[in-house]
Amino acid sequence: MKRNWELPSLNEAKLRSKSSVNTQQFILDPQLVGIGLHKKYMLHTFGCQANVRDSEVMAGILESLGFSMANSDEEADLILLNTCAIRENAENKVFGQVGNLKHLKQKNPDLIIGIAGCMAQEEVVINKILQSYHQVDLVFGTHNIHRLGDLVYKAMFAKEKTIEVYSKEGDIIENLPERRFGEHKAWVNIMYGCDKFCTYCIVPFTRGKERSRSLEDIIDEVNDLKSRGFKEVTLLGQNVNSYGKDIEIFEGFATLLKEVALTGIDRIRFTTSHPWDFTQAMVETIASYPNIMPYIHLPVQSGNNDILKIMGRRYTIAEYLDTVRRLKEAIPSLTFSTDIIVGFPNESDEQFEDTLNLYDLVQFDFAFTFIYSPRSGTPAAKFEDNISFDVKKKRLARLNEKVKHYALMHNQAMLGKEVEVLVDGPSKKDASVYSGYTPHQKLVNFKADNIKSGDIIKVRITDVKTWFLLGEQI
Ligand code: 5AD
Ligand code: SF4
Repeated sequence: MKRNWELPSLNEAKLRSKSSVNTQQFILDPQLVGIGLHKKYMLHTFGCQANVRDSEVMAGILESLGFSMANSDEEADLILLNTCAIRENAENKVFGQVGNLKHLKQKNPDLIIGIAGCMAQEEVVINKILQSYHQVDLVFGTHNIHRLGDLVYKAMFAKEKTIEVYSKEGDIIENLPERRFGEHKAWVNIMYGCDKFCTYCIVPFTRGKERSRSLEDIIDEVNDLKSRGFKEVTLLGQNVNSYGKDIEIFEGFATLLKEVALTGIDRIRFTTSHPWDFTQAMVETIASYPNIMPYIHLPVQSGNNDILKIMGRRYTIAEYLDTVRRLKEAIPSLTFSTDIIVGFPNESDEQFEDTLNLYDLVQFDFAFTFIYSPRSGTPAAKFEDNISFDVKKKRLARLNEKVKHYALMHNQAMLGKEVEVLVDGPSKKDASVYSGYTPHQKLVNFKADNIKSGDIIKVRITDVKTWFLLGEQI
């Protein structure tokens, strides 16, 4: 039987077409409005902020169809898993959860279980679902989230699975419905996709080529958020430094940052920056506007030049350190975090020691550390690897000791200091204890009265732990 499925291909996904990307406005088919009335949806989000933002759009579309948010899987008529493909353990978590949902499907055959996000873009995942996860009714990818209404409609009435995954990106869709999960902190996409093709990474395959949103659309979104009482925006892209290159904005990201700063919103953050193209114009812009927060996430991945080369990272350690120096010269208080992969294929003990030495040199405030995970379809997955998993685990543990050491050291330097905190809200255990973040992205738990989430208040640091600070409202 010929099936009406659109299946992904990683081979097609890695091609980069020269055709220009247009912007389209989202239109909701009026015939779909109401298909979710008296029905509930549950959305589980895995992975990075890009996925969180996509989930906000999925929730928005579902609510415009009439669905309301469920409190649990048990009461849901539709369960969507917005998945992450970055490492094998991220994928295993999703498969575990799909397995757990089987009993709900047995109890309620009308329940729709859907898989979205980066995993849906991989052939290996689709094959596994078709073979072993019969409870899944709906699969769609990262490039057709705007089609969610039609897809849910199909899944409600189809006798077989609904699968629609585009291997290639399409146009940028604006004006999408959304349900923001935060009340005073918001994610703002500035671009989609990635053209860097680091040899270990699946993202350029799952999220397509780099496409920038127009500057006007981004600024309109920030102004709208500000007028609705949002205090902080985080500008999102796989490599925000590339912003504007495809739409020919001179010094694209620096220009955008300046414009966002001029909206006057209280706090601006961005993630992620690639060390390769961190321009001086960006450094100067960050230094010039007090509402651009003095914290930078700058993934280094390894402290060894040969490993960086095989990873396809396009910079040397000397160049990375030079970027750190340029940033610190311009903004002396700047805090840094990074991403590090240990156990890249054939990484020697000496090469791993270089990573530890680099950590001592930069003294990062924090690091996200990972054991290398081969991703089918990426160049590195074909490299032979003579390092045992046991050695990799030991390296990760040693690196994590360093991460802890410097996190505590930097926190100790905060003792007695006065900081500004954007209040996230009261703690679940004790309503007189609140938490929030400083401009330098330090988490603070503090005692306060008469404040509410979204306030920006002054706090004195009275004690420190490795991962957070303790304080009192001044
Ligand atoms: N294995 C382990 N870690 C990875 N990352 C990306 N791909 C892989 C992989 N195959 C890490 C990188 C990246 C972060 C988001 O995830 O450090 O910066
Ligand atoms: Fe996961 Fe990366 Fe996809 Fe984000 S972009 S969902 S981290 S694979």
